[in-house]
Amino acid sequence: MYSVSVPTLFASLLAFIPSTYAGFSSSSDTNVAIYWGQNSYGQGTGSLAQQRLSYYCANTEFNIIPLAFLITIANPSLNFANAGNNCTAISGSDLFYCPQIEEDIATCQSTYGKTILLSVGGSTYSEGGFSSSAAAVTAATNLWSIFGPETSSSVPRPFGASVIDGFDFDFESTVSNMIPFANQLRSLMTASTASTGKQYFLTAAPQCPYPDAADGSMLAGAVSFDAIWVQFYNNYCGLQSFTIGSSTQNNFNFDTWDNWAKTVSLNPNVKVILGVPGNTGAGADYESGSTLADIIAYSKGFSSFGGVMIWDMSQVYANPGFLASVATDLGLPASGNGGGTGTTTTSATPTTLTTVTKTATTTTTAPTSTASGTVGQWGQCGGIGYTGSTVCTPPYTCVENSEWWSQCE
Ligand SMILES: *[C@@H]1O[C@H](CO)[C@@H](O)[C@H](O)[C@H]1NC(C)=O
Repeated sequence: MYSVSVPTLFASLLAFIPSTYAGFSSSSDTNVAIYWGQNSYGQGTGSLAQQRLSYYCANTEFNIIPLAFLITIANPSLNFANAGNNCTAISGSDLFYCPQIEEDIATCQSTYGKTILLSVGGSTYSEGGFSSSAAAVTAATNLWSIFGPETSSSVPRPFGASVIDGFDFDFESTVSNMIPFANQLRSLMTASTASTGKQYFLTAAPQCPYPDAADGSMLAGAVSFDAIWVQFYNNYCGLQSFTIGSSTQNNFNFDTWDNWAKTVSLNPNVKVILGVPGNTGAGADYESGSTLADIIAYSKGFSSFGGVMIWDMSQVYANPGFLASVATDLGLPASGNGGGTGTTTTSATPTTLTTVTKTATTTTTAPTSTASGTVGQWGQCGGIGYTGSTVCTPPYTCVENSEWWSQCE
């Protein structure tokens, strides 16, 4: 009578997480994903610098955190900006071990029900995918041994015993043989779910022009995604093309992606999530207030609508009130747990914002930012794993803080 199957046991453990702390749900239109890892607001120190992962997890106004980014796949390596300072190199690999992230993934998942994904790619990703489908399958199997359930002590594990809840793809340049790569990850996750009951997810972050140049082949009915968060920014089809008060839109194209979900996607229940910048400097097309409320209300009218994705955590926390307004727009209670729920911070002065706006567009690996150009004050300009520009905007010079992090000062 005590032979409870593992999946049942796991499901009953999950039931103890209060419903306000639920992770990604494919039946919900109030999912909120916020990328963490790139410190795109660009502060090196102080309360507006990117904090460790667990700092954010008690906030109930979002439920998904893609960790950004795994920047190379064939020989895997990570970049988490200033959070990399708290990691140590794993010899014999290009990876680092991050004890805080190991601990925080577990806390965020088990105490706060957050869905933690590893985002693969970013705008600096330049491997171009894989030379063959066999190489793609090998790479996927390797990633699973590194970030999936631990099976061998000889595998380098940046997050130690912690296990992510799946993978997110953020490819922004031409990539080959991605279908076998994605499908191998999917089948390894499905097999793991069958034996442990733990659910895994596969998501992608296409840009809004349809079809997406980089992820197009995977999205063309070849890979089963649970959700895609479309980047409605830095493009003609972004938020700033939204015509307020109109039920038909010209360039803003949520309708196109809803149609993709229903007629092209391999998973007809895929959620399409509205990707937005979290602050003025987080990307072109930043919108807030009643305009963003209108855009969310319009997008909610499509049955595939699954919530909002925001780039990125550091920008959101430097933008008081923004996350609470997104929660309200989605019909969620604003929890007052931080994330810019209205506490004005003195450090986010207009002067700082102006400076950082320039910084953010040139230094982060934010979707669609570029690695060329110069880096503004406090932006990253070097460190292990960093692949962006190493040239500071005058009069700043690149100063090494640690082997993982150099910044323009
Ligand atoms: C790095 O570690 C310090 C000391 O524990 C902690 O205060 C800080 O939040 C960590 N930073 C990041 C970005 O993880």
